[in-house]
Amino acid sequence: MFDGRGELIIDSRYLQTCDIPTSGRRTDPFTLVIMGGGDLSRRKLIPSLFHLFHENELPEVFSLLAFDRLDLDDAGYRAVMEEAVKKCNVDAFDKAIWDVFSRHLFYMHGVFEDDASFVGLKDRIEQIAAPTSKGTRDIIYYMAIPPQVVSLAVKKMKAHDLSKGPYETRIVIEKPFGEDRGSAARLNRIITGAFDENQVYRIDHYLAKEPVDNIIFFRFSNTIFEEVWNRRYVDNVQITVAEDLGIEHRGAFYEKAGVVRDIVQNHLLQLLSLVCMEAPIGFVPTFIRDEKARIVRSIRPVDTEHIDRFIVRGQYGPGIIGDQEVPGYRGEPNVSPSSTAPTFFAGKFLIDNLRWAGVPFYLRTGKRLPRRVTEICIQFKRLPLRLFGRTCDVLEPNVLFLTIQPDEKIGLRFLVKYPFSANQLYAARMDFSYNEVFKTPHHDAYERILLDVVKGDLTLFVREDTIEEMWGVVDPINQRWEGRPPPDFPNYRAGTWGPPAAEQLMAQEGRAWLAT
Ligand code: BG6
Repeated sequence: MFDGRGELIIDSRYLQTCDIPTSGRRTDPFTLVIMGGGDLSRRKLIPSLFHLFHENELPEVFSLLAFDRLDLDDAGYRAVMEEAVKKCNVDAFDKAIWDVFSRHLFYMHGVFEDDASFVGLKDRIEQIAAPTSKGTRDIIYYMAIPPQVVSLAVKKMKAHDLSKGPYETRIVIEKPFGEDRGSAARLNRIITGAFDENQVYRIDHYLAKEPVDNIIFFRFSNTIFEEVWNRRYVDNVQITVAEDLGIEHRGAFYEKAGVVRDIVQNHLLQLLSLVCMEAPIGFVPTFIRDEKARIVRSIRPVDTEHIDRFIVRGQYGPGIIGDQEVPGYRGEPNVSPSSTAPTFFAGKFLIDNLRWAGVPFYLRTGKRLPRRVTEICIQFKRLPLRLFGRTCDVLEPNVLFLTIQPDEKIGLRFLVKYPFSANQLYAARMDFSYNEVFKTPHHDAYERILLDVVKGDLTLFVREDTIEEMWGVVDPINQRWEGRPPPDFPNYRAGTWGPPAAEQLMAQEGRAWLAT
């Protein structure tokens, strides 16, 4: 059907929902209760909220209430947070704006094991939570506490009528979300026993990075890419999350987690599902989350033979990053001198659906690699014909690079004729850089997360079924590795691209890593 001007009218129930709503500022009041007012609040939450306030993204009436063990009062908490925010960006710190912002900050001493603390919390919420235009009181609980404490706190919140009761509530949960499928399912049962699934916001901060959020927009709005985004044209896909940092001060956590629980189960599988998912039938959270869940379910389970042949583990030894000597993992604080925790992962996965059957997906991540880069490389098949003679033995395939960080870029590699040569091809590259094109201010992923929670948009948060399926993908790897201590750790020097086995993995497939 066409309209009066001859424009094609596409008849779709959901097309209207694809008209993306402009990100209107929320005007209704809310109260954010931060459970555990420590490190995360200092590094991320309060600096991000302050920046949002600065940019006029928050409503006029809101309260931030930290609930934690420290013996602080409101004034003491405000002073601690002022220092923390200054530290994040001393040049841009505006004391006058801070003074207005800090009046929204409150602190309550509380103990998670103690019922009386939750009675007190309810009283405090009653005092500070302002009603919305609908007459409700919107309370967001941000669980900035370890997973064991989350279960305890949620049970207490339920018992004290804080999870539903008289309020409109949401709960925000940080990773790690469990340590395997069983523990994630148990945690989910506790949480969804107290909250409905659509009140639960499970964070994966990678999803809030702008170039990651862009993936589905890019894929489903460009004919020239969407048409070739499948097994007929794609040779392989590589996803790299490389960090030059070590484990910082998190030895105790990392000893238990290792790279698979820290990065593969969440960030890498999220990136994979965005690259592979089918188009959602509408631009609403449920449809998008449905498609991502289907992909995670389509990842072919890895058996021990596959793990031993196609999945590589590593741990860094001492080495040099930039021009600095750095210790090996086993020399980091709170790490056992004979630790077997992996800090490097590279592996091949297959997706059993019609779009991707037979296309290998190579995932790679590690600490203390030569540089920080997160990049998705889509390598296309080579043309079958070498029309231009012998030089075409080196016919380089087309590659699309989606660079997430530190640069935010999209690049395309294609072949052109080298000037004045007879038949020489040259691999040229065309780049689009976010920074150069958009002069918009940079927003930390946490700002986006907080804003979406405040607006009630679940799109970027991970659903119950998906998080459990993701554990299902990696659990066999952890089990295999934990049952067979590595004979050769440490097996890569800090500042190199992981153990030689990672290169061999690609070489045995007749391929090479592209992101470096
Ligand atoms: C976290 C991991 O989820 O992501 C850290 O626990 C890792 O180990 C971090 O360093 C990387 O995040 P980003 O945004 O710096 O790439």
